[in-house]
Amino acid sequence: MKISCDKLQKFCVQGRNMMKSNFNLLKEIETDQSKEVPQPPLQKPYDENSEKTELPEFDESIIIDDSLLSCLKKRRSHRKFKSNELSLKELSFLLWATQGVDDIRGDNYATLRPIPSAGARHPFETYLLINNVEGLKKGIYRYLALSHELIRTINEGRIENDIEKITAKQKFIVTAPVLFIWACIPYRGEWRYSMASHKVMLLDAGHICQNLYLAAEAIGCGTCAIAAYEQERIDALVEIDGEDEFVVYMSPVGKVEQLI
Ligand SMILES: Cc1cc2nc3c(=O)[nH]c(=O)nc-3n(C[C@H](O)[C@H](O)[C@H](O)COP(=O)(O)O)c2cc1C
Repeated sequence: MKISCDKLQKFCVQGRNMMKSNFNLLKEIETDQSKEVPQPPLQKPYDENSEKTELPEFDESIIIDDSLLSCLKKRRSHRKFKSNELSLKELSFLLWATQGVDDIRGDNYATLRPIPSAGARHPFETYLLINNVEGLKKGIYRYLALSHELIRTINEGRIENDIEKITAKQKFIVTAPVLFIWACIPYRGEWRYSMASHKVMLLDAGHICQNLYLAAEAIGCGTCAIAAYEQERIDALVEIDGEDEFVVYMSPVGKVEQLI
């Protein structure tokens, strides 16, 4: 059944309003932070018994282009990946560039990372669909940003098949050695900014993906931002509840032919 024009118009108005700033309303409300409700954790808790993979330190040896100007000029969305595996050092670098934690401020009040985030709330968790990465079995992993480690959350199963269906048959996504999947925990932003948090959390996602584009270029890889996907099915695939945590953005990464 087609959605009526009236209903469509309402959706568009809602969407436009969501893009506008409503920070002025914060003067008129009490946020959970101002009510001194305890802050949500900087990282989603996990089962301490999970098998962890420590990510290696990366160094200059993985960088094939250290010119920011050149990486900016080369940056394009890539939908064709070579069959090469990604090394664990390369994955470690990409995870650090997109969500790595360099420092913690206050009494676990905020993290400092290579990407900016409104109010330093950093509301995203990173999941990875690993297909071809040195030393890692296929499956879905979660990045533990605070300790720079991975845990495997789901074994292989029918993941590739599912991802293709979930992403409107964008076949190139499953050919990538790794798919970055960013899920938002909205309360991290709401705790501080309440109804003004949602717009800025989406802006945060853009910064994360842009860092992935540039970091990928630096190591001879490419990526392509993905927003065309089925919400409920991707949330189910990574086993998150779709309310207090839901996927917002994805990006597959692999080695690519160099354009310049
Ligand atoms: C928010 C956002 C969502 C996107 N979603 C998709 C997508 O689902 N599938 C896809 O193939 N490309 C997607 N793209 C990539 C755009 O198509 C691409 O950036 C655009 O065509 C410009 O090309 P360029 O990135 O090579 O400059 C997305 C880009 C952005 C910024």
